[in-house]
Order: sequence, then C-alpha cells, then structure tokens
Amino acid sequence: MKTQGFAFRNATYGMSRSHVRTLADLEALSAAAADALLALVTNVLDKQERFTLALAGGSTPRRLYQLLAGAYRDRLPWHRLHLFWGDERFVPPEHPESNFGMVRNALLQHVPLPPGQIHPFPTDTPSPEAAADAYEATLRDLLGTSGQTFDLTLLGLGSDGHTASLFPENEPYPPDSARWAAAVTAPPSYAVQSRLTLTLPALNASRHIFFLVAGREKREALHAVLDGTDSSLPAAHVRAGDTLTWFVDEAALGKR
Ligand code: 6PG
Repeated sequence: MKTQGFAFRNATYGMSRSHVRTLADLEALSAAAADALLALVTNVLDKQERFTLALAGGSTPRRLYQLLAGAYRDRLPWHRLHLFWGDERFVPPEHPESNFGMVRNALLQHVPLPPGQIHPFPTDTPSPEAAADAYEATLRDLLGTSGQTFDLTLLGLGSDGHTASLFPENEPYPPDSARWAAAVTAPPSYAVQSRLTLTLPALNASRHIFFLVAGREKREALHAVLDGTDSSLPAAHVRAGDTLTWFVDEAALGKR
C-alpha cells in the first residue's frame, strides 16, 4: 500500500481530517478498506454498544463486502452491527440493479447479522417519495437525536462526480436540507433513474467516511474532488465529523 504524497493528504477539510490511501488495484483497495473497517469497528465498540454502518451501492464495494463475508467473517462482531444504505434504486430486491440485492448476495447471505439490524430503503411503497419518508422515519427513530448519523459511511464516486445518488443535476442535495433521506431522479443515462438517497447533511453527519474509488474512468472526477477544483460535484461537498479516508487504486489516481 502506497500513501500518495498529496497536498490533500492529511489536509483538514471543515471538521474532518482527510487523507488518501493509494493501493495497486481493486483487490488491494478492498483488503485495505476491510482492515481499516475492522480496526474502526473494534475501536468504536470499545466505547459503545453498537456500530452503525451505511453501505455504498454500485460495483466497486462488492469485493469489500465479499471479503467481510469471507476472510473477515469471524473477526467482526455482527451482533453489534447495524447496516443501512447510502442510496438505492427504486426497484425490487430481486432486480439486477438493486443495491440491497447486491449486498444480500455478497454479504448478508453469508454472515450472522440479526435481520432486525438490517435497514434497507423500502422499495415496495406506492411511490419513491413514500419510501424516502419511511426511511427518514426509520433513520430518525434508530439514530437518535445526537445529530450524528452513522459511525461509518461507505461511499463510491461516479465518473460525473456523483456520490450516493446525489447527482450534479440534482436539486435535493442542498447543504441546508433538513432531510436525511430523499427521492431523486438520476440523469437519463442511468439504467434506473428513480432513486432513493441519503442527503448531503445525512452523509456529513457521519463520524467517519470511506470513499472507495477504482478505475481509470474515475480519474478526472477524483482529481477534481481531491484538488477542490469543481464545486458543482456533490462528492466535493462531503465532509465527515471525524475522519474521511479515500481508498483509491492507481488506475483512478493516475501518475501525477
Ligand atoms: C449507486 C451508488 C453510486 C456508486 C457510484 C460508483 O447506487 O450507484 O451508490 O453512488 O457508488 O455510481 O459506482 P461504481 O462503484 O459501480 O463505479
């Protein structure tokens, strides 16, 4: 694992301390993120009873989830973990585009997580708006009134700079939103446009955030966010209450 000598590295963004960890490829990135997640869970659970984790969708985190279900399965205290989702496509769990379905196949089917500790966005409501309202109520009920949302939130980065389902074209990611969950419409180029997402305030109320970014197609968006050169990118507005760590592979970071 190389740590890129970035001006950004160990920069202080708002309240969060941020740094970039550069790994050779997706496999090494996933293993580094799994190690860091295990260390964080262990540290946090020394001081509190449960650990709340918001999961990223898409394809990049799948290998991490497979590692957590495999080599790391017996090292994590599943009975003390509560899982949430950063975003969801408004499709049934069996749909190939479902983020819940991806996590169920890669992780949930293989670990002893109590079902009552798995909190996906509902996608069986009459409308996406009703699903967002239901998830808002779930989050408020389960995460209390401390103002913090999750102990750790995992996020990906789209080549257009989106994260979760907060797209540059979207209205519902104004930083002053009082909501934690919203129904949004992804741009026409996306297979499923009807989406549910955590809002920027919900993401930014996370104590720790891991971004997982792999592949050459992410390079331009990654540099624009790390260098702070494009404030139109939703990912550029993400902050963590404590630490924000970028796990990137060399294909995404490129040779400086
Ligand atoms: C989603 C994700 C989304 C994802 C990025 C990167 O539902 O699609 O939450 O924000 O993290 O689009 O996707 P890949 O990991 O597939 O490149």
